[in-house]
Amino acid sequence: MTNKGLSSIKREWWKEAVVYQIYPRSFQDSNNDGIGDLGGIIQRLDYIKSLGVDVVWLNPIFSSPNDDNGYDISDYRQIMSDFGKMHDFDELLQGLHERGIKLVLDLVANHSSDEHEWFKQSRSSRNNPCRDYYHWWPAEKGQPPHRFSIFDVHSDAWMYDEASNAYYLHYFSRKQPDLNWENPKLRKEIYEMMHFWLKKGVDGFRMDVISFISKDTDFPELPFSHEQEFLQHYAKGPKLHEYLQEMNREVLSHYDILTVAEGAGVKREDVLNFVDEDRGELQMLYHFEGTDLKNLPWENQQPNPRYDLREFKRIYSEWDEIFSSKGWGTIYLGNHDQPRMVSRWGNDAPEFRFLSSKMLTTFLLSMRATPFYYAGDEIAMSNIRFSNIDDYNDIATLNKYRKLEEEGGDEYTYLEEMKEFSRDNGRTPIQWDSSVNAGFTNGKPWLKVNPDHLEVNAEVQENDESSSLNYFRRMIQLRKDHKAMVYGKYTLLDKLNPAVYTYTRESEEEALLVLLNFSQKEAGFSLPFEFGDGILLINNYNDDLKTGALRPYEARIIQLKTNPLS
Ligand code: NOJ
Repeated sequence: MTNKGLSSIKREWWKEAVVYQIYPRSFQDSNNDGIGDLGGIIQRLDYIKSLGVDVVWLNPIFSSPNDDNGYDISDYRQIMSDFGKMHDFDELLQGLHERGIKLVLDLVANHSSDEHEWFKQSRSSRNNPCRDYYHWWPAEKGQPPHRFSIFDVHSDAWMYDEASNAYYLHYFSRKQPDLNWENPKLRKEIYEMMHFWLKKGVDGFRMDVISFISKDTDFPELPFSHEQEFLQHYAKGPKLHEYLQEMNREVLSHYDILTVAEGAGVKREDVLNFVDEDRGELQMLYHFEGTDLKNLPWENQQPNPRYDLREFKRIYSEWDEIFSSKGWGTIYLGNHDQPRMVSRWGNDAPEFRFLSSKMLTTFLLSMRATPFYYAGDEIAMSNIRFSNIDDYNDIATLNKYRKLEEEGGDEYTYLEEMKEFSRDNGRTPIQWDSSVNAGFTNGKPWLKVNPDHLEVNAEVQENDESSSLNYFRRMIQLRKDHKAMVYGKYTLLDKLNPAVYTYTRESEEEALLVLLNFSQKEAGFSLPFEFGDGILLINNYNDDLKTGALRPYEARIIQLKTNPLS
């Protein structure tokens, strides 16, 4: 068999790893205050190990007033009191390492909390030594040029502060002032903090909106009106790559770790500037082009997915292509900022829920990219779809609602939309069993538990060979046993098929055919070769049918006898 596109790829542990993302607030509560904590994750270590994942990424666990659930840090070297103490962290790290699992932390360095000591000092007077740790616009210069804020009720990224008669910049909420990376002292503080955690033994960082750290500090007027235009501008700061190279020299290059950028605003043409290994910056970046795909109008949806699968295939294929000789990609369909994977990309109606969830798991674990798999997706947790605004906790959902109230918008339509898209859909507590609070807590959960936990939970799935949970484990094992699933060349087939996603993964040793029906109807596909003599490696219908049309949401991986494409 041929070896197209394979020989140039350097093998690395973080390319072969499956990353399991844990939202600590929702994973497991160990002290019955209704909030998940580090002690809870420790209790579940054997479960995590049983999945076969290699790396755990934890959303922020540092001291925070929780305006944005930990993405507003008031002390980067302390554990959030809701989550425990430093000795819990040490125990967790040790427990993971003993089980051969690495730990990646969330680095939130674009902004801090307004309750961080740096900001308290900075706002106290214009002469304070920490003044330049943040971006200030003196009021005597007039109104600052408009900047869009992602969470602000008025979308205004400048907040007037009376104490020093100046505005400070906040791309996110008013309680998340942006740090000023122009200041070398601030950068040094961040690097020292990174060393602090790395010396404790952590295995890397997921870097929150790292693409936004460099600002055009003259703050010119911008000719934009749309959010996306602002975000793309924010992701192209003049010194961004200078800072990332410095961070690499000062910190990252001293350790064998995993680094992944949250690629907010980053387009395909720019990604290699972050992850081309010759540039000495980061290893991976996760993009938003896939998760930003829009739903089709209702009348165009049946029997195909709610989105245009041809577009979906185009996006993931084009991202694969970028990394064919340089850099390395990531793949995800859900996280704490997204609705649940099965509700958004599959179908959570009872008859399709587990089938479509397994099909999506097959996709995530058979692409050429490091999978970031979100805790709860392995048991096919779905959107909770709150009807009442009071049930929500997420600042983004709440502030947009407040804006509508103030401006007299259509609240009903907004709530309907939030049932599908609010971040809280992805944040409800993990459903461990069918008891009152799903085994998450004996207290009052900080966010409601999905009532479907009576049927959908880890305990029932544990004992069912054909469950989503056990399918996830089998897919991980398959990825480990077949390196073609990690490094093999990816080729999209039957490109224009609106219901079926088909591709091959081809290495020196073998060629695999992946067939995925993304629709709720039986669907055919067309291939330029016969594959009937291939070996069926996995199938989410638990039978050995390997030819003919695909049943609703069917997924199959077939090892081909001969490589038809070579
Ligand atoms: C991206 C994080 O994933 C999100 O949860 C957070 O609200 C923003 N960055 C701000 O830190």
